[in-house]
Amino acid sequence: MTVSDKGHAGLREDASGPVLRDLLRELGAQVGEPHVVPDEPDQIAALLVSLADGGATDLILTTGGTGLAPRDHTPEATLAVVERLVPGFPEAMRAASVAVTPHAMLSRAVAGVRGRTLIVNMSGSPRACREQFAVIAPALPHAVETLTGQAYECATPPPGVAGP
Ligand code: MTE
Repeated sequence: MTVSDKGHAGLREDASGPVLRDLLRELGAQVGEPHVVPDEPDQIAALLVSLADGGATDLILTTGGTGLAPRDHTPEATLAVVERLVPGFPEAMRAASVAVTPHAMLSRAVAGVRGRTLIVNMSGSPRACREQFAVIAPALPHAVETLTGQAYECATPPPGVAGP
């Protein structure tokens, strides 16, 4: 789900949405329709609710609108619709990303759960999406499995990842 005024108005091609789609497919996910919404909190929140409550979406990755610009509203819209926070995702993304750019500190991304859908905010640039996705990818499958009831106990973590 790309959050971008220019993308929604057709003034900028959505590069980050396709990047995330491809990365998710590489992880084995079935990826649904891409969505591009303007930086309007009500529209962002309404689409998140529609997708999450539709029952067919385990995971929503948003891209864009997490910074400090006046039109950056994605975290607030996400917070308005999630029932439980999952702070580990944005914490890990920011922690890893400051090694790449100090601007990582400007991301206000949040993650949370609505029903059985995990929502994770990511930054707007394709590069940031790649870097941030690489951080959270090892935990995404187990997050979705536990959330959707496919796994009731903690699975063995991937190689190189510390166990419980
Ligand atoms: N994180 C990573 N890994 N790589 C990046 O290039 N860009 C930063 C930050 N996080 C960046 C990053 C920048 S420049 C900003 S302004 C914030 O994410 C918020 O981005 P957004 O407003 O596009 O969501």
